Parts: sequence; C-alpha cells; structure tokens
Amino acid sequence: MSILVTGGTGYIGSHTSVELLKSGEDIIILDNLVNSQIDMVDKIKKISGKDLKFYNVNLLEKSEVDKIFKENNITEVIHFAGLKAVGESVKKPIEYYSNNLIGTLNLLEIMKKYDCKKIVFSSSATVYGKPKTVPIKEDFPLSTTNPYGTTKLMIEQILKDLYASDNEWSIIILRYFNPIGAHESGLIGENPNGIPNNLMPYINQVAIGKLDYLKVFGNDYDTPDGTGVRDYIHVVDLSLGHLKAIERVRKSNGIEIYNLGTGKGYSVLEMIQAFEKINNVKVNYKIVERRQGDIATCYADPNKAKLELGWEAKKTLEDMCRDGWKFTKNLNEQN
Ligand code: WQD
Repeated sequence: MSILVTGGTGYIGSHTSVELLKSGEDIIILDNLVNSQIDMVDKIKKISGKDLKFYNVNLLEKSEVDKIFKENNITEVIHFAGLKAVGESVKKPIEYYSNNLIGTLNLLEIMKKYDCKKIVFSSSATVYGKPKTVPIKEDFPLSTTNPYGTTKLMIEQILKDLYASDNEWSIIILRYFNPIGAHESGLIGENPNGIPNNLMPYINQVAIGKLDYLKVFGNDYDTPDGTGVRDYIHVVDLSLGHLKAIERVRKSNGIEIYNLGTGKGYSVLEMIQAFEKINNVKVNYKIVERRQGDIATCYADPNKAKLELGWEAKKTLEDMCRDGWKFTKNLNEQN
C-alpha cells in the first residue's frame, strides 16, 4: 500500500515526502525533475531514515504512468506536479495548460483505471484573485489573473466534476498561501532555478551576496506600511497539513477544500526586518514600482482546516526566517 507523490522532489513535495515517511507511510515519488534535482531523493531518504521508490517520469507519458500503477499498489495520490511560475505562465500559456491540465487528466484517468480514487490536490490561494475582504474563506469568489492560476482553478473544477460523476472518489483540495522556510536540517529547502520570483528566496540570495539588492515592488498599497501583505506559512507546517488531508481522504468519500495558511499577514518591510533581526544579516533593498498583477493584501481564514482536519500552523515567523537562512548557507557552502 503506497501513496504516490507526484512532484515529490519539488519544494513542498520533498518536505511532504519527508513527513509522510517519518510518520510511517510508504511512498512512491513520480517527478520529471524539470524544476528539481535528482539528489533530492537521497536527501529525503537521509532526513527520514526511510527508503522510497522514485520514478523519473513525466505525467504526459501516459504509458509510463500506467506502468507505475501496474507495478505498485497505490492507494492514494498527493498531486504536486505542475509548472508554477506566475510570470513564466504569462509568457508560455500553452506549455502551462498542456503540462498542468493534460498531466492531471492523464493521472486521473489512470487512477480511475486502477480503482485508486483518493487524491489530495495542491492548489493555491491565487485562485482567489483580488479578494474584496480578508481574511479569506474557502467559499470566497474565485478568479484568476494568469495562466498558472487558471490551471489551478480548472483542475479544481475538473475534480468537482469528477466527484459529481462518481461519488466513490475522495478528494481534498488544499489552497496554499505563501510557503517559505526549510526543513530544520538545512538539507532541503526552496532552491528555484535562475533569479527567484518569490520574496523569500530573493531575500535569502541578497543576504548571502548572490544578488545586490531586493526590489520592493511598491510601497503605495493600502496597507500599514504601504508594501504588500501576505500570509507566510512554514513549509513544514504546510507539509503536515497534507498528512492530515491523507487521514481525512482515507476516512470518507466526498470533495472538500481547505486553506492552508497561518491567518496572519506580514508586509514586505516586516519580512525584511524580521529576517535581518533573526539572522543578524543586512538585506539591501530599493522601493520600485508595483509588479503587474500583485494585490495589496492576502491572508487566510484557516479555521475550516482547524475544525475539520485538526490542523493548524504552529511555526513562527522566526522559525521561517531562521530555517530558510540555514538552508541558504548550507547550499552556498556546497557550491
Ligand atoms: C510576495 C510579496 C510582492 C518579490 C506567488 C504566487 C502564488 C504562490 C506564491 C504558487 C508581494 C513582494 C516579491 C520581490 C517584492 N505560488 N515582492 N519583491 O506573489 O504573493 O504569490 O507565490 O502557488 O501563486 O502568485 O508571492 O513571494 O512573489 O510576493 O517586493 O522580488 O513580496 O509584491 O507583495 P505572491 P511573492
């Protein structure tokens, strides 16, 4: 009996794989390594002290995915695999729709063929678009402003229609807010290819000297200090949310959606100050114009996950800043 983790060598996938193994689960990772490295498999084994099967497979290769189900007794799937850079998706919509949608449809078709009807799907707060108020609840209106976000919204709709067609499915959709930080070992963390899009990897690379300064995208938003406010959540807290989702998906059929956030928002300047204070480093920055598509404020109401999954984020902003920095320093020493 195994859990198939698609995208299991990625940032959130690798941290979730570690927590699944530590909790005694048997997992199989499927990943095409388009945005991760093969040595992540050994790191996951090292941290957890457990073994696992890895398949270097692309979900677009249907026959290869079929072979994995034929060779193993897969009872649940956690589906992380997908392209996820907002800016890149605007430039390459066909690649994003093809990879994220066709890959997911292939996976679901093969799951159905092997009567594996329990899935946890990695979605994103980006499906809320520009929320009218905060904190954000799961029943808020949905809208997207980029192809990446639209693929998440479309896959959520596919899953809703799938359950409506066959109530034997057990589906949980998890909407992540802003995952940051790293495993306390410092062995795994967020290591984006090229120049980081997201705030915290960028701050880390400025602090370590790889980048000169952080561009703060606008300080004229309607927020306490004018810079963007987001719900930053420790990637290990986020990973533990998946273990609770697996527990729930095993218990009952149905389709449920949960926000995974802390319920607290921090501004860009607050993040810079916290990171500098906790790690005793300097982060040079300049205020520049707003980034297109950004919103002022976004943070979760995580109460549904607390009530129904028995999950809540426990790690602090200090943990997030300290653990992320430890990983960055380790990575820098290796290179
Ligand atoms: C956070 C804040 C920026 C970089 C994105 C995706 C979302 C999800 C998480 C996948 C904002 C500011 C950032 C920089 C800055 N990804 N910023 N300078 O945009 O909230 O969410 O990542 O699911 O789908 O949209 O995260 O880290 O890019 O930005 O000032 O160099 O930091 O304006 O206020 P975002 P982010």
